Amino acid sequence: MTPRVTEGSADAGTVAWTRAMLAAFLGPRLDTDLLARVGAGLEGQRLRGAYADPDPSPVATLRSWDAELTVPGGAVTADAVTGIGVRSTHRRRGLARRLLAEDLAAAVRAGTPAAVLTSTQGSLYERFGFGLATLSRTIRVDMTRARFRDPVPRGTVELVDRPDAALALAGPVHARARRRHPGALARTPAQWDAVLTGAVAHNGLEPDRRRQVAVWRDDDGTPAGYVVHRLEEGWYATGAATLGIIDLQATTPRAYQELWRHLCSHDLVGTVTWEHASVDEPVPWLLDDHRAVTVEGERAMLWLRVLDAPALLAARRYPLEDAIVLEVADDAGHTPGRWRLDTHDRLAPAVGPTRDEADVVLPVSALGSVVLGGVDPRVLARAGLLEEASAGAAGRLARLLAAPSVPWNGLGF
Ligand SMILES: CC(C)(COP(=O)(O)OP(=O)(O)OC[C@H]1O[C@@H](n2cnc3c(N)ncnc32)[C@H](O)[C@@H]1OP(=O)(O)O)[C@@H](O)C(=O)NCCC(=O)NCCS
Repeated sequence: MTPRVTEGSADAGTVAWTRAMLAAFLGPRLDTDLLARVGAGLEGQRLRGAYADPDPSPVATLRSWDAELTVPGGAVTADAVTGIGVRSTHRRRGLARRLLAEDLAAAVRAGTPAAVLTSTQGSLYERFGFGLATLSRTIRVDMTRARFRDPVPRGTVELVDRPDAALALAGPVHARARRRHPGALARTPAQWDAVLTGAVAHNGLEPDRRRQVAVWRDDDGTPAGYVVHRLEEGWYATGAATLGIIDLQATTPRAYQELWRHLCSHDLVGTVTWEHASVDEPVPWLLDDHRAVTVEGERAMLWLRVLDAPALLAARRYPLEDAIVLEVADDAGHTPGRWRLDTHDRLAPAVGPTRDEADVVLPVSALGSVVLGGVDPRVLARAGLLEEASAGAAGRLARLLAAPSVPWNGLGF
């Protein structure tokens, strides 16, 4: 079903769906009017449920929508999937499997070449053909050591209080910035609202009043970057609070540098942290002491399920000319086959079925991991997750799939 929304409130079916989804994630019990407002934010999306008659409340939920996904050199429509939750009394009966299978089959019918999700758990989605495609990691900047190599600030920083004004500035910046990162996704209005205000269903739509939005404009006054941050720990006791970055997007290196300068210029702050940073953040190189920045373990971010291998491979661009044959295994039957990828026409790579010998044999989940260029096929070959059928093929594939910048999606959903 899709939510029917009247005057900012969703219908009873959507309210029941939202209540069930929150319960499965151990979320709060919200009043019906609040649930109706949460449900209204899902307008236009697909809500799936499994129902046990005569209970009108679903025992299992799944939500999805079409989102533009950046791929190297282009973009595709992806089926963004979330809200997979099963009532604690109904687990391990195949309900999550059923809803996901239904959703992926519908995406295939709609001609959507990939599905994406971020997961609460690491071992759940590979069985459904998803492969881990982007990673993120926490970085921590010690302000007592953070001195910028370039001491001269440029442009101007403006603090924007009202969420609608912040969105008007940050939205277009994000729309440009996300094209630089394979794996980045366009955001729904509800996702923007959550980023800018912190009001989400799990906290009963209470805004996070510690959030601030700062926009950086270049010398011409054009917004080229923004950061949303919040005070994580108070300064009262220590005078050295922690500032946490929720979202930082920049369309130019200068915008990136000046946003960091702004973050590091706060009085009363000792540390700036970012939980969902890319694995290749340049911030240590902005500073004269690398050790001002510590990097913590990488964690799984975006999982990608290839639904149409030829369409997805043809939608991205490649850094060199080669031709390689991939044999893809897909138990669900969405996109199995032996596909020849020929990149000699760099503007229009050709992908189609072939009877040629395979160079690389891999499950569809491994294809999902490597297709954006964020995971090296040689690493998967060493882990036994991808088979090199011709000598050096994993290396050839790695060079072919290399992305212009490290895949990154800084927002879980
Ligand atoms: C995770 C969850 C959705 C699974 O639902 P479910 O209906 O019990 O799952 P199914 O019975 O359809 O199981 C599907 C497969 O996943 C496996 N699986 C289920 N839960 C799993 C878990 N937490 N970790 C790893 N594997 C899991 C099952 O063993 C089964 O595998 P198999 O078919 O290969 O034997 C459910 O337990 C839940 O709602 N958890 C809390 C919310 C949550 O974390 N959701 C995931 C959001 S990303």
